[in-house]
This record gives sequence, structure tokens and C-alpha cells, in this order.
Amino acid sequence: MTFPPRVFSGIKPSGDLHLGNYLGAIRRFVPLQKTHHCIYCVVDMHAITVWQEPEDLRRATYEVAAAYIAAGIDTKNHIIFNQSQVLQHAELAWIFNCVARMGWMNRMTQFKDKAGKNSENVSLGLFAYPSLMAADILLYKATHVPVGEDQKQHLELTRDIAQKFNNDYGKRIKDLHLDAGYFPLTEPMIAGAATRVRSLRDGTRKMSKSDAASDMETIYLLDDADAIANKIKRAKTDPEPLPEDVKDLENRPEADNLISIYAALADKTKQEVIAEFGGKGFGVFKPALAELSVSVLSPIATEMRRLVGDKGELDRILRDGADRARAIAETNMREIREIVGYVR
Ligand code: TYM
Repeated sequence: MTFPPRVFSGIKPSGDLHLGNYLGAIRRFVPLQKTHHCIYCVVDMHAITVWQEPEDLRRATYEVAAAYIAAGIDTKNHIIFNQSQVLQHAELAWIFNCVARMGWMNRMTQFKDKAGKNSENVSLGLFAYPSLMAADILLYKATHVPVGEDQKQHLELTRDIAQKFNNDYGKRIKDLHLDAGYFPLTEPMIAGAATRVRSLRDGTRKMSKSDAASDMETIYLLDDADAIANKIKRAKTDPEPLPEDVKDLENRPEADNLISIYAALADKTKQEVIAEFGGKGFGVFKPALAELSVSVLSPIATEMRRLVGDKGELDRILRDGADRARAIAETNMREIREIVGYVR
């Protein structure tokens, strides 16, 4: 069975969007519109797996939607919407909770990292989170999912769930004359120079919405030009000049991070950036990186601010996107209910 190519991806509206979200995900969503039908979701149901002040959740939901649009997502030919407006996500997630095995879920490293020593006291939703993520993707039979490296294991789980569902219900799927292999085995798209943007103060840690010990670790999408330049100026580095060969970045996590950021912002490879800056010191490289960052991020921030100032327009876009997403979701859900054997 071949599935029509369809892209799905999502971002949690929790905390403020940062450069990692932009380079690992949002920036890469844009060119895919030329080759695929794309669905980009603001995954608010994922956000509440850890406590969110209701007003913060609303603000962050609009902010992610605005970032999609400001970065260049075409909301007419593709879809953006927030997850909670399409109830079928929760419905399919429950079915997947009954397909996924405890052993699989227990292996999820992101849960272990997030729960830490507190695992008795985190929400059940946080544990079940990857099964909702599988539902997000498979509800639309998405074939490709662009994400950063941290989501790789969740996408492997999505394939395991699809495969087990296809096997468990294989006879029923055949009896109903549906295509064998009902769900696709989704391909992760983890590519480009910045699949794992790291903290500006500690090159061993991921840049993240939740873990930053100080604001200087993270460039936020809504930072102004001065803040961006200042954070880059004060980013941790080492005393060596930049190497002439990418291989020599291996044991220099901070240098590697800054080169990766530059490459992703300039749509270049790391080798191309090294060809330009190899042998030069950070005194030359950092101002160039600051200038590039500001030139790419500032117009996006300006447009995001304009959009979040017009909630009526964002509401209209999200509602329209949700209507179109729901139509696809409900068509698939009707078959899935039938496969499972629910009486309707
Ligand atoms: P979230 O909201 O944590 O992150 C959104 C996207 O940003 C990427 N990302 C990064 N990329 C590079 N460097 C970083 N430092 C960095 N930090 C975050 C993430 O990989 C992600 O692509 N579980 C998902 C949301 C989700 C989803 C989905 C994604 C829910 N359902 C279905 C794809 C398909 C998450 O928490 O992403």
C-alpha cells in the first residue's frame, strides 16, 4: 500500500518559542509546503501534561500559531490548527493506549528525563504522551514528520504502534476491504545542520523551553535585536580559533553549536561555514552570527507581534484549520471505529 505523501508536525504551546524550535522544526516546515500537503498543529493537549496556567496556555497557543504564519506557512493551501479543537486526537489516543505496551512506554527517555526523581508525582498524561503523539500523526495517516532529534524515539514508537495495530486488526481490516497496512509507517525527517540546538552557556545541554537556568542560555523568537546580539556575544566558547575541518568540531560542543546555528540560519552546510570562518577567532565569528541571527529572526518577531495583536484573525485561521483537519480526521476515525468493533 502506498500512502499519499502528507506531512504532520506539532509544537507544544508551553513556555516561549526558542531558536531550537525554529531551526529544528518551524524553519524546516516551510519548504515542505512545495512538495507535500502539510498539517501543522499547536499541540495544546500535550502542553497540559505538565501544569500550565490557563492564561499562559492561551497566550502560548496564539504565539505558536503566529510563529507558523510569520515563518511562512500558507494557511489556505495547508492547515494550521490547535489540537484540542479536533476531539478525534483524544479518541484515537485512547485506542493507542490500548495498543502500546507498558514495556515500550517505560523505555521512553524523554519521560524519564522530565519525570526525573519525581516520577511518582507527575501526571499520567505525561507518561501516556507519546501515545497521543502517535495519534496526532496517524489520525491523518501522515507519511513524513519533520522534527528535531529529541523526538526520534517518539517517532519510532509511532511506527511500533502503527505496526501492532495493523497486525492485531489485520483480519478485520481485510474483512472490511480496507487496505492492508491500514496505518503508514511514518518516516521521521530529522535533517539539516541544527537538529539539536544546544544551550548557549553549556554545549552539552539542549536548548529548551523548560530547563534553562538563565535567560542567557536561550534565544527566544520574540527576543529583540539587542537581546539576541548580547546573548551571542556572551555565549560560552573555547580559546581556540575555529577549525579548518568539521571533524575538528567533535570535541568542541560550544563551537559546534554556534557553527550549526550559523549554518542552519544561512541554509548552508557546516563545512561551508567552516570554509568561510576556519582559522578565525570568535571575535570575528560572533558578530557575524549575531548579524545573521538578527536579520533572520527580527522580521519573524515583528510579524508574530502583529499577529498576536489581532486575536480575531488568529481565531479565524485556527477555526478554519480545525474544520479542515477534523474532516480528514473524522473520515479516518469512522473506519478506525469500525475496525476496532465499536457499535455505532
Ligand atoms: P516540542 O514542543 O518540545 O518542540 C517542538 C519542535 O522543536 C524541536 N526542538 C528542537 N530542535 C532542535 N534543537 C532543539 N534544542 C530543540 N528543542 C525542540 C522538537 O524536536 C520539535 O520538533 N512531542 C513534540 C510535539 C508533538 C509532535 C506531535 C511533533 C506532539 N505531537 C506530532 C511531531 C508530530 C514536542 O514536545 O515538541
